[in-house]
Amino acid sequence: MADKPPVALEDRGEGGDGRRYSPSAARNREPIRDTLKAHLGLPACVLEIASGTGEHGAFLVNELPGLDWTYSDIDPPSLESQRAWKAAAQSESLHGPLEINAAQSDWGEAEQMGAWDAIFSANMVHIAPFEAAEGLITGAGRLLKPGGMLVLYGPFAQNGVIAPSNAAFDESLKSRDARWGVRDLELDLVPLAGRAGLRLANVIEMPANNLMVVFRKM
Ligand SMILES: C[S@@+](CC[C@H](N)C(=O)[O-])C[C@H]1O[C@@H](n2cnc3c(N)ncnc32)[C@H](O)[C@@H]1O
Repeated sequence: MADKPPVALEDRGEGGDGRRYSPSAARNREPIRDTLKAHLGLPACVLEIASGTGEHGAFLVNELPGLDWTYSDIDPPSLESQRAWKAAAQSESLHGPLEINAAQSDWGEAEQMGAWDAIFSANMVHIAPFEAAEGLITGAGRLLKPGGMLVLYGPFAQNGVIAPSNAAFDESLKSRDARWGVRDLELDLVPLAGRAGLRLANVIEMPANNLMVVFRKM
């Protein structure tokens, strides 16, 4: 039995060069690309929190000219995979990875890198204690440019209403770690965002009962 819960719920395949692969990233990367393209003005410097395998950044810089992407994570094997994806991509638009614990109030190097156009985080706030969501939103309030975007991707409840598949997912998350769980956009996250100087700007439906949620810094 592992000492701590795994950072991802699916098996992440590994290539011989250190790059890890997650089946869900392969499925959602195109819808994420299309939604970012529609909402994020380019050129843009994006800080990704909880980059996981690193597949999203490597795919997106290739697809969206003008996108500049910095990886980060808290988890050493994920940081290793991000390094491997960066090496394989050989793109001047991919940076990091930075070691960032979203729950902390100091994001180290990211604090000194100037204000960010966007902060992106996929599939983290439900697979981490709520402090990670609080830290992510507070950090976005601190580090985004005025008008900058915090973009979240994943499953959410809305105003107490949750899709049956997300309710089942919520139960399975909580059975692994009682601190995890699908967050309610309006009840859990919007109040935090308001205190951080962010307003809810767009909620976009994505495949498989996921959402892309865009907050703007006021
Ligand atoms: C399910 S994976 C999602 C990875 C990737 N964003 C994706 O969608 O494929 C969750 C990620 O959140 C990271 N994570 C968990 N808690 C974190 C925290 N407090 N700060 C930063 N990253 C965290 C884990 O290390 C893991 O890489």
